[in-house]
Order: sequence, then C-alpha cells, then structure tokens
Amino acid sequence: MSRHPHDEHHPARFAEIVDRVLEAPVVPSFTRVGYDVRSRLFAWAPLDGYDLRGRTIVLTGPTSGLGLAAAHQLARCGARLVLVGRDRERTELTRAELPPAKGDRNHTVVVADLSDLMAVRAAAAEIVATTDAVHALVHNAGALTALRRETADGTEATVASQVVGPFLLTLLLLDRLRAAAPGRVITVSSGGMYTERVSVDRLEMGEDYRGSVQYARAKRAQVTLNEVWAGRVSGSDVVFHAMHPGWADTPGVAAALPRFRRVLGPLLRPPAQGADTIAWLASDDGEPATTTGTFWLDRHARAIHKLGSTRRSDSPAERARLWDWCVTRSGIGQGGQLQVAAPLEEPDGQSDDLSRRASRSGDQRPAGR
Ligand SMILES: NC(=O)c1ccc[n+]([C@@H]2O[C@H](COP(=O)([O-])OP(=O)(O)OC[C@H]3O[C@@H](n4cnc5c(N)ncnc54)[C@H](OP(=O)(O)O)[C@@H]3O)[C@@H](O)[C@H]2O)c1
Repeated sequence: MSRHPHDEHHPARFAEIVDRVLEAPVVPSFTRVGYDVRSRLFAWAPLDGYDLRGRTIVLTGPTSGLGLAAAHQLARCGARLVLVGRDRERTELTRAELPPAKGDRNHTVVVADLSDLMAVRAAAAEIVATTDAVHALVHNAGALTALRRETADGTEATVASQVVGPFLLTLLLLDRLRAAAPGRVITVSSGGMYTERVSVDRLEMGEDYRGSVQYARAKRAQVTLNEVWAGRVSGSDVVFHAMHPGWADTPGVAAALPRFRRVLGPLLRPPAQGADTIAWLASDDGEPATTTGTFWLDRHARAIHKLGSTRRSDSPAERARLWDWCVTRSGIGQGGQLQVAAPLEEPDGQSDDLSRRASRSGDQRPAGR
C-alpha cells in the first residue's frame, strides 16, 4: 500500500485509508484481524469507561454468543437490562451470572420466542408495564437453521424471528423508546446479507430452502428496514442502527457452520469482539446517538451494498412493499392493534391505517447507499 507523504501528519486520514483497504477483501475485515487493526488504528474508547447507570436496555438473545457478551458488557457499565429469551431457565441463569454493576442490579427476564407474534405482544406489554423509558432495544436474537420451519401463522421461521417479530417489538416499544429521546434500536445483521437482493417475493424460501440463503435474505431485510424506520421516525425521538459483527466464534456458529468454524479456527473473533459494536452503539453518545439509519461494522459506518445487482434491487417501491409486508405479517393492521400506529407519525392519535399513515411521512432516506 502506498502512502501519501502527508499521511504521516494526518493519522486520522491514514487510519481511514487502512480501514478501507482492510474492508475490501472480506476475510481480514470480518475476522479478528479486522477488529484488532481497527481498534488500534482508531484508538477506540474502552467500553468499560461508559457509565450507563439510569439507562434501560432491552436485549434479545442474551443467553448465548454475542448477546451474552453484550449483556455482560452493558451490565458492567451499569445499565439495567431487560433480557428477552425464549427459554426461562437459560435466561434466568444468564441474569444470575451477570457481573456486578456500577448501578443497581435490577435486571429483569422476559420470555418470548420472537417467531411467535403472540409471545412478542405479551413481552412488549410486560416491558411497557414495567419500564418508563427504553434507552436501547437490541435485536440480537437469530439463528441459521438447516431445516425449514413455518410458524403457526404460516411465516417462514427465520423471517418470522428476525424480521417480523423484531418489527412488531420495535413498533410496540416505540413510545418507550421515544421517552428516552433518543431511544436507540440496534439490529444485529450479518455480512452474509451483502449477497442478497431486496425482494419481498424472494424473502421467504419454499421448497428451494437453503438455510444460509434464507438467513442472508432475512438479514438483508433487516438492513433495509433499518433505513426505512429511520426515514419514518424522527431521529430526535428514536435512532435506528444496523450492524454486522464480523465472524465470531459463538455456539450459534458452531452449531450451524461447523466446517466454516474449523477452517477459520483462531481467526474467528471471540464473542466480545463480535459484540463490541453492539455495546458501543448502545453506549456512546456521539454518532450512535446523533445519526440514524446507518449500517456499522467495527464502530464505522459501512455501505449496505457491495454488488450492483443488490443495489439495483433496492428501490423505493420495493422498500415500501417490504414495509407493507411487515405490517401485514405482524398483524398490526388488524383491529385492536391499530392504536400502536399512532406514535409512528402524527401525535394526534387519529390513526386508522398504519401503512397509509407511515407512508404519508415518506421515506426520506435515499435508497441503496
Ligand atoms: N457469530 C457470528 O459470527 C455472527 C455473524 C453474523 C451475524 N450474527 C448474528 O448475531 C446474532 C447472535 O448470534 P450468535 O452467533 O451469538 O448466535 P448464538 O450463540 O446461537 O445466540 C443466539 C441467541 O439468539 C437466541 N434466539 C435464537 N432464535 C430465537 C428465537 N426464535 N426467539 C428468541 N431467541 C432466539 C438464542 O436463544 P437460545 O439460547 O434459546 O437458543 C441465543 O440467545 C444473530 O442475530 C446472528 O445472526 C452472528
């Protein structure tokens, strides 16, 4: 790599150049090499230095891997955690083992399988009843599954748990997120999404199901929705971030991708490195609190497209279809759930149709950055 003679005197510019060179080939960028180099290049603030006393953070998937690492980090900084897990025993165990905190240890457990819309509604109601303000909602739960499964309401399970369930949970907690002004919604996506187009028609796989492809399509939808949410909700109320953690050695990876894990071996990031940007987005009051609709890797905003084909698929019309599809699948367009649409846009509470109200405010962000 050639260096501009003046780069010596501009460490920030030099760091940017090294970061970009590192990002081009995926392997060094996504492995611990990317983390190690970037954390030193940019002299990252140590996470333990953040004081999160007085903040409530709702975290899904806290029982394993990245979620567990994030839970420990955030608890150490004093945040009050609401741990949303699908298995009460495992989630209670996670709570019991959280490290001593700077703040109180008033962490709570809420049980919900995120692919189950009734369970998501019940979880949201429990959180609303016990929490005045949600400072961050972290959509971390997720899995890549070899076998296709459908939920009771007929949605493919990967999409149900990682797209529809989180969409509904965000919507139901929007008032509490607004109360933290700005509340933060952080979605843990995957670099695998770079391979997939934005397409409602292809979102749920059928007989052609392949776990890794289905997973990547759900992860692409998460990143697209992150930008759509940011276009629909004022950033002074709630900011939206999506991120990918690189490749980390977690029980999820060991179960779903054993060969990949064997090949990459020690190059995989430890869970705490994969969780670093999750915790940073939830903790830092700089860019994470003042920008919205961004996609992050290693504390740095990243493009959401690397391929022309995916960029071309990312049209305002397809984004609007995806939003409408989520509204329909999450059941919020039906009967008694309509009142939750009100905070999405006008404060007059006259909501009668979520998708119409939301689209009136328009998606202000350009598609396909
Ligand atoms: N590790 C990586 O390299 C990597 C790379 C890219 C993206 N990611 C993403 O990072 C996130 C965490 O992954 P991980 O590697 O830490 O995996 P993990 O070790 O398997 O942990 C996944 C967590 O999600 C929970 N979960 C899964 N499906 C759920 C559902 N339907 N409802 C509620 N909770 C559910 C699991 O709960 P149980 O304990 O009950 O199973 C567990 O707490 C996922 O969104 C994943 O897609 C990871």
